[in-house]
Amino acid sequence: MLNKIRDLVEKTKIELDKIIDLSDLNEIRVKIFGKTGELTNLSKGMRDVPVEDKPKIGAALNEARKSIEEKIKTIEEKFEAAILAKKLEKEKVDITQPSKGIEMGALHPISSVIDKLTDICVSMGFSVVEGPEVESDYYNFEAMNIPKNHPSRDMQDSFFIDENIVLRSQTSAVQAREMEVRKPPFKIVCPGKTYRNESDSTHSPIFHQFEGLVVDENVSMADLKSMLTIMMRRLFGQDTEIRFRPSFFPFTEPSIEVDVSCPNCHGKGCSTCKGTGMLELLGAGIVNPKVLEINGIDSKKYSGFAFGFGLDRTAMILNSISNIRYMYRNDIRFLKQMK
Ligand code: PHE
Repeated sequence: MLNKIRDLVEKTKIELDKIIDLSDLNEIRVKIFGKTGELTNLSKGMRDVPVEDKPKIGAALNEARKSIEEKIKTIEEKFEAAILAKKLEKEKVDITQPSKGIEMGALHPISSVIDKLTDICVSMGFSVVEGPEVESDYYNFEAMNIPKNHPSRDMQDSFFIDENIVLRSQTSAVQAREMEVRKPPFKIVCPGKTYRNESDSTHSPIFHQFEGLVVDENVSMADLKSMLTIMMRRLFGQDTEIRFRPSFFPFTEPSIEVDVSCPNCHGKGCSTCKGTGMLELLGAGIVNPKVLEINGIDSKKYSGFAFGFGLDRTAMILNSISNIRYMYRNDIRFLKQMK
């Protein structure tokens, strides 16, 4: 019996030395320690061993089991170490290599102007409101004192969907909607997309406006001028010169247009301002009492001012962009320059 045990240990160790794969190890394990494994069978033979030999044989069996298990364990560890070493080699990271860097996005110039203007206006107490881009003729024109067939409709060459539905040609439509539901006093601004049938280097059929409306008691042209001056200086710089010129809009009376000194050349004259030193920026005026009345506001008690400017033009000025189309082409090279 002792010889059999010794032979088994010896034979098994030789087999173990030969294995080249972890799965072979399992096979040997079963062959030795399994239910009908070779060592298990030897242990079963204990029954027939004379009592006086039992301790010796038992100890030998234990010893055999221990030494085989130890050998298996060492081999297992060797394999695992080899696998780990291979993995480490494969996944090696050279920390001295320069990094690829993180690609940072940038806000579109128009979004960035909307953000800046919104911040300025919110700090002055305005609420921000929005409205639909597909608008009824009523809100876009009639509620703004531009009746059907009125010549001033020609100022805005509009896209009609049918006789009564239009792609809004001005964000003023939002003001009509708000006047209907708000009670004065209120101060609102509405940024948004607008549509007109015009296209050249400074006009696009889709463009953006930013319109403001204040309705309260005793609102005057002086309030409008001082508020616009503060806004323009915060947007273009404190040294910006502001020029107010008389103008005409059906919804404001009196109406003005506002120019600012060119932030590029500070009024000296350059290509941005076509040598004039000034840039035309927005339309504004005292809300025509007729507009207040159409929209259910008592024009004897309340007055208001409104202003509206082209965000595309503002973005072009702030970023020295020469053609409006660059802003709608989605060209990554252009957008990257906006960082
Ligand atoms: N809605 C006018 C336009 O698009 C701009 C404007 C707004 C003028 C508010 C006066 C007051 O031309």
